[in-house]
Amino acid sequence: MNILLISGSPRKKGNTEMLLEFCSQEVEIRGIKTDLVCLSDKIIHHCKGCNKCRDRDNCILQDDFNRLYRQVLDYDGLVIGTPVYVGMPTSLIMAFIQRLTMVAFNNGRSLSGKFGGGFAIGGEAGQLAAITDLIKFFLVNNMVVIGSDYWNIGFATKKGDIMENDKSLKYIENFAENLLNHVKLMEG
Ligand SMILES: Cc1cc2nc3c(=O)[nH]c(=O)nc-3n(C[C@H](O)[C@H](O)[C@H](O)COP(=O)(O)O)c2cc1C
Repeated sequence: MNILLISGSPRKKGNTEMLLEFCSQEVEIRGIKTDLVCLSDKIIHHCKGCNKCRDRDNCILQDDFNRLYRQVLDYDGLVIGTPVYVGMPTSLIMAFIQRLTMVAFNNGRSLSGKFGGGFAIGGEAGQLAAITDLIKFFLVNNMVVIGSDYWNIGFATKKGDIMENDKSLKYIENFAENLLNHVKLMEG
Protein backbone atom coordinates (compact mmCIF):
# COMPACT_ATOMS: atom_id res chain seq x y z
CA MET A 1 0.00 0.00 0.00
CA ASN A 2 1.44 3.35 -0.97
CA ILE A 3 0.17 6.91 -1.16
CA LEU A 4 1.38 9.80 -3.30
CA LEU A 5 1.09 13.28 -1.79
CA ILE A 6 0.96 16.23 -4.18
CA SER A 7 1.42 19.86 -3.24
CA GLY A 8 -0.29 22.35 -5.53
CA SER A 9 1.45 25.39 -4.09
CA PRO A 10 3.66 27.45 -6.40
CA ARG A 11 5.57 28.44 -3.22
CA LYS A 12 8.40 26.10 -2.21
CA LYS A 13 8.59 24.98 1.45
CA GLY A 14 5.34 26.80 2.22
CA ASN A 15 2.41 25.80 4.42
CA THR A 16 0.97 23.25 2.00
CA GLU A 17 4.25 21.41 1.63
CA MET A 18 4.77 21.45 5.41
CA LEU A 19 1.29 20.10 6.13
CA LEU A 20 1.77 17.37 3.53
CA GLU A 21 5.12 16.46 5.09
CA PHE A 22 3.36 16.16 8.42
CA CYS A 23 0.65 14.05 6.76
CA SER A 24 3.31 11.86 5.19
CA GLN A 25 4.86 11.18 8.64
CA GLU A 26 1.45 10.39 10.13
CA VAL A 27 0.64 7.97 7.32
CA GLU A 28 4.08 6.32 7.41
CA ILE A 29 3.98 5.65 11.17
CA ARG A 30 0.83 3.66 10.41
CA GLY A 31 2.80 1.42 8.05
CA ILE A 32 1.77 2.96 4.70
CA LYS A 33 4.52 4.05 2.33
CA THR A 34 4.37 7.61 0.95
CA ASP A 35 6.12 9.92 -1.48
CA LEU A 36 5.69 13.67 -1.86
CA VAL A 37 5.72 15.59 -5.13
CA CYS A 38 5.60 19.41 -5.33
CA LEU A 39 4.17 20.97 -8.46
CA SER A 40 6.07 24.22 -7.79
CA ASP A 41 8.97 23.14 -10.00
CA LYS A 42 6.84 21.42 -12.65
CA ILE A 43 5.46 22.75 -15.91
CA ILE A 44 1.85 21.71 -16.36
CA HIS A 45 -0.08 23.37 -19.16
CA HIS A 46 -3.85 23.48 -19.14
CA CYS A 47 -5.95 20.85 -20.91
CA LYS A 48 -6.56 21.75 -24.57
CA GLY A 49 -9.63 19.50 -24.80
CA CYS A 50 -8.20 17.83 -27.93
CA ASN A 51 -9.19 14.32 -26.77
CA LYS A 52 -6.01 12.92 -28.27
CA CYS A 53 -5.33 11.09 -25.00
CA ARG A 54 -8.04 8.62 -26.02
CA ASP A 55 -6.62 5.09 -25.94
CA ARG A 56 -3.00 6.21 -25.79
CA ASP A 57 -2.86 6.54 -21.98
CA ASN A 58 -0.92 9.79 -22.04
CA CYS A 59 -1.24 13.43 -23.06
CA ILE A 60 0.20 14.83 -26.27
CA LEU A 61 1.41 18.01 -24.54
CA GLN A 62 5.13 18.11 -23.93
CA ASP A 63 5.63 19.04 -20.27
CA ASP A 64 5.92 17.33 -16.87
CA PHE A 65 2.38 15.91 -16.86
CA ASN A 66 2.97 12.45 -18.36
CA ARG A 67 5.72 11.53 -15.91
CA LEU A 68 3.46 12.58 -13.03
CA TYR A 69 0.54 10.63 -14.50
CA ARG A 70 2.62 7.44 -14.68
CA GLN A 71 3.68 8.07 -11.09
CA VAL A 72 0.05 8.48 -9.95
CA LEU A 73 -0.83 5.12 -11.56
CA ASP A 74 1.83 3.41 -9.42
CA TYR A 75 0.16 4.44 -6.14
CA ASP A 76 -2.93 3.18 -4.33
CA GLY A 77 -3.97 6.66 -3.27
CA LEU A 78 -3.55 10.35 -3.84
CA VAL A 79 -3.47 13.10 -1.21
CA ILE A 80 -3.69 16.58 -2.71
CA GLY A 81 -2.91 19.75 -0.79
CA THR A 82 -3.60 23.21 -2.15
CA PRO A 83 -3.36 26.76 -0.89
CA VAL A 84 -6.54 28.79 -1.34
CA TYR A 85 -6.11 31.26 -4.18
CA VAL A 86 -9.11 33.59 -4.56
CA GLY A 87 -11.39 31.05 -2.90
CA MET A 88 -10.23 28.18 -5.13
CA PRO A 89 -7.43 25.65 -5.50
CA THR A 90 -4.41 27.05 -7.37
CA SER A 91 -4.44 27.06 -11.17
CA LEU A 92 -1.47 24.69 -10.95
CA ILE A 93 -3.50 22.00 -9.20
CA MET A 94 -6.58 22.66 -11.36
CA ALA A 95 -4.60 22.20 -14.57
CA PHE A 96 -3.16 18.98 -13.15
CA ILE A 97 -6.43 17.40 -11.98
CA GLN A 98 -8.33 18.42 -15.11
CA ARG A 99 -5.76 16.77 -17.36
CA LEU A 100 -5.54 13.77 -15.04
CA THR A 101 -9.31 13.32 -15.27
CA MET A 102 -9.35 13.65 -19.06
CA VAL A 103 -6.59 11.07 -19.53
CA ALA A 104 -8.15 8.72 -16.93
CA PHE A 105 -11.60 8.96 -18.56
CA ASN A 106 -10.18 8.30 -22.01
CA ASN A 107 -8.25 5.27 -20.81
CA GLY A 108 -10.57 2.97 -18.89
CA ARG A 109 -11.11 5.23 -15.83
CA SER A 110 -7.56 4.51 -14.74
CA LEU A 111 -7.88 6.17 -11.31
CA SER A 112 -10.81 3.96 -10.25
CA GLY A 113 -10.64 2.50 -6.76
CA LYS A 114 -7.71 4.61 -5.57
CA PHE A 115 -7.97 6.46 -2.26
CA GLY A 116 -8.26 10.24 -2.31
CA GLY A 117 -7.78 12.91 0.32
CA GLY A 118 -7.70 16.69 -0.04
CA PHE A 119 -6.47 19.57 2.14
CA ALA A 120 -6.74 23.32 1.63
CA ILE A 121 -4.89 26.07 3.48
CA GLY A 122 -5.69 29.76 3.38
CA GLY A 123 -5.06 32.84 5.46
CA GLU A 124 -8.69 33.88 5.84
CA ALA A 125 -11.45 32.13 3.90
CA GLY A 126 -12.28 29.83 1.01
CA GLN A 127 -10.77 26.57 2.30
CA LEU A 128 -14.07 24.70 2.18
CA ALA A 129 -14.78 25.81 -1.38
CA ALA A 130 -11.28 24.72 -2.38
CA ILE A 131 -11.50 21.23 -0.86
CA THR A 132 -14.91 20.79 -2.48
CA ASP A 133 -13.19 21.09 -5.87
CA LEU A 134 -10.68 18.42 -4.84
CA ILE A 135 -13.46 16.13 -3.59
CA LYS A 136 -15.31 16.54 -6.92
CA PHE A 137 -12.17 15.37 -8.70
CA PHE A 138 -11.96 12.23 -6.50
CA LEU A 139 -15.65 11.43 -6.84
CA VAL A 140 -15.88 11.79 -10.60
CA ASN A 141 -12.85 9.55 -10.94
CA ASN A 142 -14.50 6.70 -9.06
CA MET A 143 -12.09 7.07 -6.15
CA VAL A 144 -12.69 6.39 -2.45
CA VAL A 145 -12.68 9.70 -0.56
CA ILE A 146 -11.19 9.65 2.92
CA GLY A 147 -12.33 12.32 5.36
CA SER A 148 -11.45 13.40 8.85
CA ASP A 149 -13.46 14.38 11.95
CA TYR A 150 -13.84 17.87 10.47
CA TRP A 151 -13.00 19.59 7.15
CA ASN A 152 -9.38 19.07 6.17
CA ILE A 153 -8.51 22.74 6.23
CA GLY A 154 -5.94 25.05 7.78
CA PHE A 155 -5.47 28.73 8.52
CA ALA A 156 -2.02 30.10 7.70
CA THR A 157 -0.50 32.98 5.77
CA LYS A 158 3.24 33.27 6.40
CA LYS A 159 5.43 30.28 5.61
CA GLY A 160 5.43 27.93 8.60
CA ASP A 161 2.28 29.31 10.28
CA ILE A 162 0.44 26.07 9.61
CA MET A 163 2.61 24.14 12.03
CA GLU A 164 1.22 26.32 14.86
CA ASN A 165 -2.31 25.35 13.88
CA ASP A 166 -3.04 22.50 16.28
CA LYS A 167 -6.53 21.89 14.92
CA SER A 168 -5.25 21.28 11.39
CA LEU A 169 -2.61 18.90 12.66
CA LYS A 170 -5.33 16.99 14.52
CA TYR A 171 -7.46 16.74 11.35
CA ILE A 172 -4.45 15.29 9.55
CA GLU A 173 -3.78 12.74 12.31
CA ASN A 174 -7.40 11.68 12.15
CA PHE A 175 -7.25 11.51 8.36
CA ALA A 176 -4.22 9.20 8.58
CA GLU A 177 -6.07 6.95 11.02
CA ASN A 178 -9.13 6.83 8.75
CA LEU A 179 -6.91 5.99 5.79
CA LEU A 180 -5.37 3.09 7.72
CA ASN A 181 -8.82 1.79 8.71
CA HIS A 182 -10.02 1.93 5.10
CA VAL A 183 -6.88 0.15 3.92
CA LYS A 184 -7.50 -2.61 6.48
CA LEU A 185 -11.13 -2.88 5.38
CA MET A 186 -10.13 -3.15 1.71
CA GLU A 187 -7.52 -5.77 2.52
CA GLY A 188 -10.24 -7.77 4.23
C1 LIG B 1 -2.90 34.89 -5.44
C2 LIG B 1 -3.24 34.56 -4.01
C3 LIG B 1 -4.58 34.46 -3.67
C4 LIG B 1 -4.94 34.15 -2.35
N1 LIG B 1 -6.27 34.04 -2.05
C5 LIG B 1 -6.64 33.65 -0.80
C6 LIG B 1 -8.02 33.49 -0.48
O1 LIG B 1 -8.93 33.65 -1.29
N2 LIG B 1 -8.33 33.10 0.77
C7 LIG B 1 -7.37 32.88 1.73
O2 LIG B 1 -7.73 32.53 2.84
N3 LIG B 1 -6.05 33.03 1.46
C8 LIG B 1 -5.65 33.40 0.23
N4 LIG B 1 -4.31 33.52 -0.10
C9 LIG B 1 -3.30 33.22 0.95
C10 LIG B 1 -2.72 31.80 0.83
O3 LIG B 1 -3.74 30.84 0.68
C11 LIG B 1 -1.91 31.48 2.12
O4 LIG B 1 -0.85 32.39 2.26
C12 LIG B 1 -1.38 30.06 2.14
O5 LIG B 1 -0.82 29.79 3.41
C13 LIG B 1 -0.31 29.84 1.07
O6 LIG B 1 0.09 28.48 1.10
P1 LIG B 1 1.60 28.06 0.74
O7 LIG B 1 2.48 28.61 1.84
O8 LIG B 1 1.60 26.58 0.69
O9 LIG B 1 1.91 28.66 -0.59
C14 LIG B 1 -3.92 33.89 -1.37
C15 LIG B 1 -2.59 34.00 -1.74
C16 LIG B 1 -2.23 34.33 -3.04
C17 LIG B 1 -0.76 34.43 -3.41
